[in-house]
Amino acid sequence: MRYRRLLLTATLIIVSPLTVAATETPKPPAAAIASAHPLATEAGITIINQGGNAFDAAIAVTAALAVVEPAGSGLGGGGFWLLHRESDGFQTMLDGRERAPLSAHRDMYLDRKGNIIPKLSINGPLAAAIPGVPAALEHLAKQYGTLALSQSLAPAIALARNGFAVDKRYQRLVNFRLRAMRRSPAAAAIFLHHNEAPDVGYIIKQLDLANTLQAIADHGAAGFYSGPVAKRLIEGTRAAGGIWTLDDLTQYKIKERAPIKSRYKNIEITSAAPPSSGGIALATMFQILENYSLDQLDNATRVHLITEAMRRAYRDRAEYLGDTDFVSVPVEQLSHPFYAAGLASTIHPGKATPSSQLPGIADHQQGTDTTHFSILDRDGNRVAATLSINYPFGAAFVPPGTGVLLNDEMDDFSSKPGVPNVYGLVGNRANEIAPGKRPLSSMSPTFLEDDHRIAILGTPGGSRIITMVLLAALEFAANKPPYDWVNAPRFHHQYLPDHLSFEPNAFDQETINTLTSMGHTLKARSRQYGNMQAILWDRTQNRVMAASDPRGNGLASIIE
Ligand code: GLY
Repeated sequence: MRYRRLLLTATLIIVSPLTVAATETPKPPAAAIASAHPLATEAGITIINQGGNAFDAAIAVTAALAVVEPAGSGLGGGGFWLLHRESDGFQTMLDGRERAPLSAHRDMYLDRKGNIIPKLSINGPLAAAIPGVPAALEHLAKQYGTLALSQSLAPAIALARNGFAVDKRYQRLVNFRLRAMRRSPAAAAIFLHHNEAPDVGYIIKQLDLANTLQAIADHGAAGFYSGPVAKRLIEGTRAAGGIWTLDDLTQYKIKERAPIKSRYKNIEITSAAPPSSGGIALATMFQILENYSLDQLDNATRVHLITEAMRRAYRDRAEYLGDTDFVSVPVEQLSHPFYAAGLASTIHPGKATPSSQLPGIADHQQGTDTTHFSILDRDGNRVAATLSINYPFGAAFVPPGTGVLLNDEMDDFSSKPGVPNVYGLVGNRANEIAPGKRPLSSMSPTFLEDDHRIAILGTPGGSRIITMVLLAALEFAANKPPYDWVNAPRFHHQYLPDHLSFEPNAFDQETINTLTSMGHTLKARSRQYGNMQAILWDRTQNRVMAASDPRGNGLASIIE
């Protein structure tokens, strides 16, 4: 590769939360919540109307999503909560990512010949890492909320007891996981009806989950990580071949991490730190794109340059990124404008770079379902949270008597360098399995801020999360409103496999022809993807807007 120094204005800094200066801004004229399910948005509205702040509402929405959108997230999973406290400008990322069990080991998904045993890191209790969501609920309430944890959890407990109605999306996803789900009697009893996908409108009540939520309401995180719930989790996982121990549960801790900050033109981007790859990959892509005037280019050239930025950021992701508590990640190098300038200098303006011509890596990968919500309260506090149990309905396994659907986040590790995971991502030693380590994630809850606008956004979508956030941020940069950010047609490149995938109708025929002649291998996806939830606070116009992705069934609400 040929590297050339360019003068760049883009910068990326990892800012310690304590160094973020307080800013004097007017208060938003309204609060807003956007989430992937109307009942979860309503749970958050209830808590705001009871006097709770954005962080209390985040507890309510997190817990409600665990009940009404079980395919995406839950008490048996993890996530990242990006927080902004308006009173002092403090910003932090709660890392509630799952961690590998203490008896996990590097080769646990390989057979004696060193080959990956299919599905072992996807279905059943051996696929599950130790959940972080229950600890995050307590942490949010203790450190940032104003209401008792029990008050913020009350709407979710009621939803679990009273039930929610199956919709088409639920039906599609549960059908996708039907075979695995049938192997867990406790999961099948809750999420299926007579061992089949339930009809639309069928009411799913979750009494065990209501009791587990109540234990957390009564005892905080200890209600999950010790006592009767923990005993059932351990007994249930071990009886089905899992390796969890009580030490795994009692040792789980939330970490607070300084978010990754970068700039694109006049926009400050605040996004997720490792063990997410999101903030660093966004920084790389934005710093590369800073070299171009994208708005003055024809569509094919614009897509080509964005694709080349994606390709390079995902190569670095696969090569270098992992849990920084376990491996050294060259964050400053990857984030430095000169490094991005070097990457940009390798981009041919009219020709695709085959991924095989970039310095090589071994392989790795990662998960797709997941969920996201965004919250702004009337004081200007903000939460962007992306939560996951990985594959739809996670490991499709429930330890009996808990109502807790376990994640299959172990698949987000690189089980074997060079071998792609369920989402085709490749990885390296930095993301190999180790006891207590957090698997690399793509979840990218993000804030965008220019001199008068603030955006809160994120989306599910596995490896495509980061590129969806990039494309939405470019809509923000073009002064478009939130509906355009969540609605914009999507395309994606992740280095390997070496193809540019795109949503149906994302490109017209002329763009497809031009990109093909540039050397890109195009792959039309059969369906749309993503479920972005976004909020805009325009301080000049004193206006709050919110939008929920039309691809999903979510609800964005303004609370006057
Ligand atoms: N399991 C999806 C992610 O963390 O990226």
